[in-house]
Amino acid sequence: MQNDMKTVLIVGGSGFFGNAIFQAASEYLNVFETHKSRPIRKASIKFDLLRDDPDVLLDKVNPQLIVIAAHFEPMLVGHSARERAKSFLQICRDRRIIYISSDAVFDGRRGLYSEKDPVSPDSDYGKGLAFMEDAVRGTCSNHIVVRPSYLFGFSMGRLDSRLETTRSRLIRGQDVSLFSDMFKSPLEVNEAAAIILEIEILRFTGTVHVAGHRMSVFDFHREAMQALGVSTRHLVAEQVPPNQGFLRDTSLSIRQMMSLIDRSPRMVSAALTDRENPS
Ligand SMILES: NC(=O)c1ccc[n+]([C@@H]2O[C@H](COP(=O)([O-])OP(=O)(O)OC[C@H]3O[C@@H](n4cnc5c(N)ncnc54)[C@H](OP(=O)(O)O)[C@@H]3O)[C@@H](O)[C@H]2O)c1
Repeated sequence: MQNDMKTVLIVGGSGFFGNAIFQAASEYLNVFETHKSRPIRKASIKFDLLRDDPDVLLDKVNPQLIVIAAHFEPMLVGHSARERAKSFLQICRDRRIIYISSDAVFDGRRGLYSEKDPVSPDSDYGKGLAFMEDAVRGTCSNHIVVRPSYLFGFSMGRLDSRLETTRSRLIRGQDVSLFSDMFKSPLEVNEAAAIILEIEILRFTGTVHVAGHRMSVFDFHREAMQALGVSTRHLVAEQVPPNQGFLRDTSLSIRQMMSLIDRSPRMVSAALTDRENPS
C-alpha cells in the first residue's frame, strides 16, 4: 500500500469496529480517534457528535479523511440530534468521508440486496442509518457509504458480543437457540477494516457493501463455535416467528466489493482460525 501519511480521524475509534479500523489504518496513516465516554487509548479525543463543537475537533486534527464509525441512533434521540448530525456533516463537507452504515437499512423481506436496491428500513436503528446515509450523500460529495452485515471476531482483544454470548452460554452447558431461516453476510472485523482501507485507496466514491458470504444465523454461530473449539451440542436451530418484526434476510450482495478488491472474503471458520491478524 502507498505510504502517503494522510491524516485520518476516526469518530468512534474506541468502538468494536472503529478500533479495528484504527489498528489497520495506523500501519500507514496518521490516525486520530474519538470516544464518547470510554477511551481505550490515552490519546483518544473525547467527542460527542450530538453535543460537542465539531470545529474545535477539526481545527485540532485537520484530517483529510473522516471515518464515522460512531454508533448513535438519530431516530431515537430526536429531531435536535438529527440537526446536530447534519450540521456535523456540513462542517465536514469539503473533506473525504467514510460513513459506516449497515444492512439494517433493508427490511429483510428479500435478501442479497445490492447497492442499487432502494433502502426500506423497518427498525428505528435502520431508519437512523438511512437518514445518515442520505445526509452524507446530500452534503459530502467525496464520500463512501459502507454497509457491513454482522461483524465478528476479535477487536480490542475481545470477541464480539454476539459470539461471546453464545460461547459463554455453551461453555456453561446452556441451550442456545438461533434462527436457521434468518440470513446475514458476516465478515471478520479486521478483514472488514482492511477492505475499507483498500477501497479508500482506490478513491472509490459511492455506496459499497463490505460483507461476507450469505449464511443463516444458526450456521454462522455453529461454524464460529467449531472454529473456537467450543462444543455445539447445545446449539438449537429454530424458525423465525411470523409477524414479530424480525429482519428475516438482510444478506448483502458483495459483487461490487469483490470486483474492487479482486478476491473473495474469508469464510467464518478460516477467519477465526487464522489469527495472524488479531486486533
Ligand atoms: N458491530 C457490528 O456487527 C456492526 C455491523 C454492521 C454495522 N455496524 C455499524 O458500525 C458502527 C460501529 O459499530 P460498533 O459495533 O463498533 O459500535 P460500538 O462498539 O458500540 O462503538 C460505538 C462507538 O461510537 C461512539 N459513540 C457513541 N455515541 C456517540 C456519539 N453521540 N458521538 C460520537 N461517538 C459516539 C462510542 O464511544 P464510547 O464507547 O466512548 O461510548 C464508540 O466509540 C455503527 O454505525 C454500526 O451501525 C456494526
